Amino acid sequence: MSQLDTLLKAATEVRENAHAPYSNFKVGAAIVGKSGTIYQGCNVENAAYPEGICAEAGAIAAMVAAGETELVEALVIADSPAPVAPCGGCRQKLAEFGARDVTVTLTTTDGLSAATTIGDLLPGAFDATHMERS
Ligand code: THU
Repeated sequence: MSQLDTLLKAATEVRENAHAPYSNFKVGAAIVGKSGTIYQGCNVENAAYPEGICAEAGAIAAMVAAGETELVEALVIADSPAPVAPCGGCRQKLAEFGARDVTVTLTTTDGLSAATTIGDLLPGAFDATHMERS
């Protein structure tokens, strides 16, 4: 199985665990750490709506908790009419841990797929270099 297929399977599986009773929009994410390990995340909503966590954030948190700080590929899946677009906050989170040229594959449960990169998702991202004088 290719790495992309492995990521698709991992994201599809974890999406089933999403806690999304308020939006009914389940999202799954899978990322590959530099070590080759795959980390999964799903969205976890809350009755206090702003407290919800996106799937990408969950996958990144799992990676960092496991001791890794660099992701080399990512995939997101949802039951959306077009390949799901990561929210602005998740674009920033992906940019914190992945290089600009890292591929992010956006998919739908009915098989649509679009490949992009962290750099294209968030051009001009704010990063640690902007704080170098502080
Ligand atoms: N959501 C994600 O988990 N990732 C995305 O890329 C887009 C949106 C979640 C947040 C919320 O639980 C639901 O989808 C609807 O916004």
